[in-house]
Amino acid sequence: MDAPPTKVELTGVPETALWNLYQRASAARTGHLDDPRAVEVLARLDCPFERFDLPYRGLTARLHAQRVRTVDAALRQVVAGAPDVTVVALGEGFETQFWRVDNKRLRWLTLDLPEVVAVRREVLPDGPRSRTLAGSAADAEWTTQVGRERPVIISAQGLLPYFGRDEVHRMLTAWARLLPGAWLLFDAVNAPLQAVRRRNPLPDGYRPPDWTWIVDADELRQLRELPGLTDLHEVPQAGGDRLLGLLRRVPGLKSQLPAFPVFQARLGLDAA
Ligand SMILES: C[S@@+](CC[C@H](N)C(=O)[O-])C[C@H]1O[C@@H](n2cnc3c(N)ncnc32)[C@H](O)[C@@H]1O
Repeated sequence: MDAPPTKVELTGVPETALWNLYQRASAARTGHLDDPRAVEVLARLDCPFERFDLPYRGLTARLHAQRVRTVDAALRQVVAGAPDVTVVALGEGFETQFWRVDNKRLRWLTLDLPEVVAVRREVLPDGPRSRTLAGSAADAEWTTQVGRERPVIISAQGLLPYFGRDEVHRMLTAWARLLPGAWLLFDAVNAPLQAVRRRNPLPDGYRPPDWTWIVDADELRQLRELPGLTDLHEVPQAGGDRLLGLLRRVPGLKSQLPAFPVFQARLGLDAA
């Protein structure tokens, strides 16, 4: 007999993990993302997901799918060159990325806040190569749980925009000091995306927390000056969505489009 659905009641930033899961499952159902496990996980959770429905003809889910495909592609590229890598996924929520990018050799360490980890462990239990930790990304304690005998990539998807700029800078420099040689992959929110969300309130019943860290040209310059972050560059957005791809190619429009830019860097190498 199937297990009864797991009841979920999250608020604040942890609740946004459910929002993202809903977007990925919607994209998977409409053929914009290859992620059957997201659909399965959604079905296992007892949660009023209908409050995340948006009247924008599936564009939100497609934008999320594009972000996810972009991060997956960057991750696969690192994994191809370092097949025994440990991926540390900070603020992982209900992501099913391990199953999308697994090469049957890598190790996976998930970190999220205790209330999210308690639910994640029910629906996405640890396996022989995957482990879940409860804690805060802002507290460097998690770095002591990362074995140094393997290459490391830290990924932070949908996490950093909820911190203030100084806190983001503090975390990135601490990780560079504590895990030198690791790759870092993170996404951000651009100013047009924040403006669109502020202009277009979501349906009744759901008010996500504001994004407090936006990456524009000035912030990118500041990130490049942080000690221990080398080769910081934006990863090309993945293809796979004709409409979004066409819009990006319209001259002058690209910088005006709402987007989740994805960045990659190498940590600590300038200090090594
Ligand atoms: C927008 S969700 C992203 C979830 C997942 N990475 C994804 O892309 O679907 C933000 C996640 O960050 C987690 N989070 C917020 N603050 C955190 C912190 N201080 N340490 C670790 N995780 C945190 C939340 O619990 C939530 O799971």
